[in-house]
This record gives sequence, C-alpha cells and structure tokens, in this order.
Amino acid sequence: MKFDILFVILILTVSAHAQDDDDFIIDSSSEYDETAATRYWYFCAASYCNPNVILNWSCTTPCSKTPYMDDVQIFVNATNENAGYSGYDPKHNEIIIVFRGTLPWSIKNWFEDINYIKTSFPYCTNNCQVHRGFYYSYLGIQDQVLNAAKRLTSKYPNAKLVITGHSLGGALSTHALVALTVNGYRVDHYYSFGSPRVGDSAFFNYVKSIYPSAKFRVTHDHDPVPHLPMEVQGFHHINTEAYYKDFLIFHKDVKICNDEKKEDPRCSNQNLLDLSVDDHCNYLGYNLAIGVLVCQ
Ligand SMILES: *[C@@H]1O[C@H](CO)[C@@H](O)[C@H](O)[C@H]1NC(C)=O
Ligand SMILES: *[C@@H]1O[C@H](CO)[C@@H](O)[C@H](O)[C@H]1NC(C)=O
Repeated sequence: MKFDILFVILILTVSAHAQDDDDFIIDSSSEYDETAATRYWYFCAASYCNPNVILNWSCTTPCSKTPYMDDVQIFVNATNENAGYSGYDPKHNEIIIVFRGTLPWSIKNWFEDINYIKTSFPYCTNNCQVHRGFYYSYLGIQDQVLNAAKRLTSKYPNAKLVITGHSLGGALSTHALVALTVNGYRVDHYYSFGSPRVGDSAFFNYVKSIYPSAKFRVTHDHDPVPHLPMEVQGFHHINTEAYYKDFLIFHKDVKICNDEKKEDPRCSNQNLLDLSVDDHCNYLGYNLAIGVLVCQ
C-alpha cells in the first residue's frame, strides 16, 4: 500500500513536470539569439587553434564559418599558453573577447581535478565568494583583457562589445563580464558554453545587480562541466541558462531556464549523472574537438 502511494506521487510529479514544460519562455521576449550564439560558438572553437592561424584568421572551419575578423590579439597567460583572444568583426560591427578552456584531449583530467576552494571577491559588496582557481587564472590575463577592450573600443567606438568563452573559458568570460562592467564598459552580448560554476549565490546576486541585461549560459544535454563545482559545495550558477537537449536539423530544442530562485531543475540540472565529454565539446551542431585537430 505504501508502495502504491509512492507510485502515485511519482506519477503526479512526473506529470507536473510535463506541464511545467509549457512554461518555458522561448518567445520573442527572450533575447536569446541562436544565430548569434552559433557565431560566438565558432569564435570559441577558434580559440583552441594554434595562435599563428588565429592571428591571420586562417584556422580552418571555425574561421571560415565566421570569415570576418580583424585586429586579432592573443591573450597569453604566465605559462605562455593561449588563454583567448580579442578581435573585431566588421560585418557585424562587434568587438569580440573570447576565452579558451583546456584542450579537448585534457578536458577529462581537467574536470576531474576541479576543486571547490573559494576566495573572497573584491568587487562585490555582499561578501560574495568565487572559485579561487578560476579567478586567479583570470587575473593572470586581466591586464591584457582590459587593454584590448580599451584599444578596440577607442578604435571602433560604435561597435557592440561581445564576451564569450567555452568550458574554463566560460568561467574566465564571467570574470571578464564583471571586470569590464565595473570598469565602465557596456557589454552588449554575453554567451558562455559549458561553463563551470564560478561563485556562490551571493555572487549570482552580485552579477545580476551589476549586469541586469540578458546574458546566456548555454548548456548541452549531458555535458558534465556545468555541474562543477557542485551546488552542495556552495556554488551557484549565474543566470540565464539556455539548455539544449539536442540540436538536430529539424529539432533544435533550446529551453530558456528560470534560475531566479534556484538553478532550474528542468534544465541541465535534471541530469544527475553526466559524463559526456562529447556533449561538452559539441554545441550548436559543431564539435570543436574535431576541428581543433586540424588547426594546430
Ligand atoms: C597564416 O599563418 C600560418 C602560420 O604562420 C601560415 O602557414 C599561413 O599560410 C597563413 N595564412 C594566410 C592566409 O596568410
Ligand atoms: C595558464 O594556463 C594553463 C593551462 O590552461 C594553466 O595550467 C596555468 O595554471 C595558467 N597559468 C596562469 C598563471 O593562469
């Protein structure tokens, strides 16, 4: 009998979820722009290529899919590794700031090693904390990022400013969004892909307060990285998640999630056990792990 009652509760829960599905806002009031997101995803893919072919924009598929790019400058961290780049897209009149993650063949080692050590974050006024490792990685290139923003916004004063990044680069892009915003830059578009969590719930509130406009944290099906570091370790994603269950020619299933009060359990968080490195590298129909092999 007890079992039966549990069973009924389960059924009710499942059907309530099915109804919830209709609440997803993918209407015109959501500013999510899949065409733009796809362009930014190719910029992220390009960031994994050899700096020489990023600099002259000959990085095979990612560059040929987004053929307009001038004024490219690479961000290099203390160990002389490429951490991203900036550039100007004359066709769309956009200044692009892109952050790279770990190379695809090291991703599994990287995410298995993500720790949950936090540090206080100097900008915020509500005692928020951020993941220490991601923050220090960002600080290693912050001067280059701010200098690039300064140089490009004075050269192209009417251009829109776009920040994007994949994986660890998603975390770096979050820090860049905060730093550029508090330094007086107007960031027009922000899209990250497969980002880990960057800070705690006070950080979520802080980022929302300084940057209330639309910004998107794109996630894909069983990508494990958005689950790290874990919520039980005191981390909370920034909004707004745009979750893809799949991305097929005739079925591009994006859900704009609601993380106002807590992370939306109908999006990436519905998957309790996620281990697909492939889903982590494959966004919007393009798998960067394949492209990266031929652009080194
Ligand atoms: C870009 O640079 C790479 C490496 O230096 C070189 O092999 C390639 O020919 C260059 N491509 C163009 C289009 O200039
Ligand atoms: C530079 O990047 C590498 C690889 O992503 C990372 O292991 C290293 O800690 C970074 N160094 C700094 C100072 O950010």
